[in-house]
Amino acid sequence: MSVPALQDAVLAWYEEVRRDLPWRRTTDPYAILVSEVMLQQTQVARIVPRFEAWLTQWPTEDALAAAAVPDVLAAWVGLGYNSRALRLRAACAVVARDGWPRTAAGLRALPGVGPYTAAAVASFAFGERVAAVDTNVRRIADRIGLGGPEVLLPESIERAPTWNQAAMELGALVCGARRADCEACPAAPWCASRGAVVAPARRAAGTAVRFEDTNRWVRGRIVAALAAGDAVPGDIDAARVRAALDGLVRDGLVEVRDGEVALAR
Ligand code: ADE
Repeated sequence: MSVPALQDAVLAWYEEVRRDLPWRRTTDPYAILVSEVMLQQTQVARIVPRFEAWLTQWPTEDALAAAAVPDVLAAWVGLGYNSRALRLRAACAVVARDGWPRTAAGLRALPGVGPYTAAAVASFAFGERVAAVDTNVRRIADRIGLGGPEVLLPESIERAPTWNQAAMELGALVCGARRADCEACPAAPWCASRGAVVAPARRAAGTAVRFEDTNRWVRGRIVAALAAGDAVPGDIDAARVRAALDGLVRDGLVEVRDGEVALAR
């Protein structure tokens, strides 16, 4: 069963079902960066109006770079960590001065732009052939079992950006962390996990979430350990550590240097 056939099936499926989202109608790197930073925390449906309002308020990177910090924080309310908004503005200040880096490698030098966001902007705005790998995309590749996300990325530079959107759409609509609708999945014929995805146990209704069970708690433990010069805590479930590290790297707070996890400089 070949990877190109899987790519064809997923891309055809994507053309059928794709949601018409405002950041999919543009190749403006600023708009795409704003969308990706907003989407790191919050669900698509809630982001659409916030994204449109943000672009009305600050239509360009120059406008955001010149915005007053209190205005930026006010516009970010409800979108998650404030540091993301401030780093987005700081990234725009760099771009306003130096112009856009046009590759994922160059984009990663911007404040708050981790590997996932850099790849997404490079792919969607500049057409670079690079896999945009977030937790969802990694989960899909793990489940399919043919190789990592880079193996699934189409060779063709025309198809690679669409593939990145399609892989995200698959994770959002069909192959969720908790529920995989294998009947509806275009990748099912190639998938090693077809019919075998087991949902993690759900919290009983009405039970409060303990702070120790949140991603914020894991992030805090990791940052505290790294700041103290210690290793990543070994007493936390590995999948939770990986998800938290993904977020920290995406936010540009943590880096992998020489194979070691470290606080970003
Ligand atoms: N989540 C992260 N990036 C996304 C995108 N470009 N479209 C839909 N959902 C996303």
